[in-house]
Amino acid sequence: MFQAQSHLYSLTSIFVSSMSLKCAVQLGIPDVINDHKRPITLLELASALRIHPSKTTCLHRLMRVLVHLHIFAETLVPKHEGGGEEVKAYVLTPSSSLLLSDKATGLSPFIVAMLDPVLMTPWHFLGDWFRGNHEKNCSNKLISPFEAAHGLNLWDYGRKNPEFGDAFNGAMAIDSRMTNFIIRDCKHIFQGLNTLVDVGGGTGTVAKIISEACWGLKCTVLDLPHVVAGLPESENVKFVGGDMFEFIPPSDAILLKLMLHAWSDEDCVKVLRKCRESIVGKNNEQGKVIIIDIVIGETQDDHAEATSTKLFFDMLMMTVVTGRERTEKEWEQLFSNAGFSQHKVTPMFGLRSLIEVFP
Ligand SMILES: C[S@@+](CC[C@H](N)C(=O)[O-])C[C@H]1O[C@@H](n2cnc3c(N)ncnc32)[C@H](O)[C@@H]1O
Repeated sequence: MFQAQSHLYSLTSIFVSSMSLKCAVQLGIPDVINDHKRPITLLELASALRIHPSKTTCLHRLMRVLVHLHIFAETLVPKHEGGGEEVKAYVLTPSSSLLLSDKATGLSPFIVAMLDPVLMTPWHFLGDWFRGNHEKNCSNKLISPFEAAHGLNLWDYGRKNPEFGDAFNGAMAIDSRMTNFIIRDCKHIFQGLNTLVDVGGGTGTVAKIISEACWGLKCTVLDLPHVVAGLPESENVKFVGGDMFEFIPPSDAILLKLMLHAWSDEDCVKVLRKCRESIVGKNNEQGKVIIIDIVIGETQDDHAEATSTKLFFDMLMMTVVTGRERTEKEWEQLFSNAGFSQHKVTPMFGLRSLIEVFP
């Protein structure tokens, strides 16, 4: 009975992990530890962060939970130069190294944006949303808990609230910067292509990475007009403002990174059909759709944390947008419903897989 109680209390307080992480990022603790160049003691950390002495023990408690969560680690250092008594000091771990602001991989703005109250509020509406009677919006689509909370879907909310929209688009761009490491290793996927459209490509981070890695490949980023308005273009990266449900510019291949998981099966089939129409070249040579997205592995996820993160993301997609995470079978069903005949999944980078889909 008490084990069960403990389990429930642990789940009830699981948000403390996210919020403590957000707090560490907001305070800039990873950068402070890194700039210190050696393990940092609590007093040194408090001083560098300009924390009032009355809150030093609170900082210790924050660090204790973050060490427990493997965001930071502890080591021992001499209390005084020359040795003698030792005190605890904090160091970075592989996870907090990804939070450093001067690194291309710096994920801090992603963490802050994803834990923005605008994205957290819909969770308080989830129960009522389930009980509701199939409320539809003006486009006759089932509303998400996000829309129940804010009266607008995520994309319209971002358009009407540019501060939030810019932070969200910035967070996606930061997530995309890590794509750099994948593209380098899988240039063969883009070999033979002259043109590529990144549908829902945001502010063009992935398109820039691909065009730099694959010389001569011309990339077009299609995204909502307010997202791409005024973005600087280059010879190999152009932007088109539009709606993917209406028109996708023709190209040899189409990229959909973290796109389809944000839409319902019905919408995904519509988008994939549009993609299929757009990738048939002039001489009828057939292109492909390249998807970078989550595949829920029924058996093959190599650690339990990856499986729970994928399941959490699935709930996130249900709450914040109208999408879902999919198993390979479910992806296959979408491809076949949209008229594609073949696909190949390559699980390759943490939570995401690369799926090539052929007409
Ligand atoms: C989850 S983000 C993914 C962004 C990008 N692919 C990445 O991984 O960084 C979804 C993107 O779809 C765009 N979007 C939403 N509705 C769209 C539509 N109807 N047509 C084109 N893009 C759309 C959003 O503006 C946003 O940039």
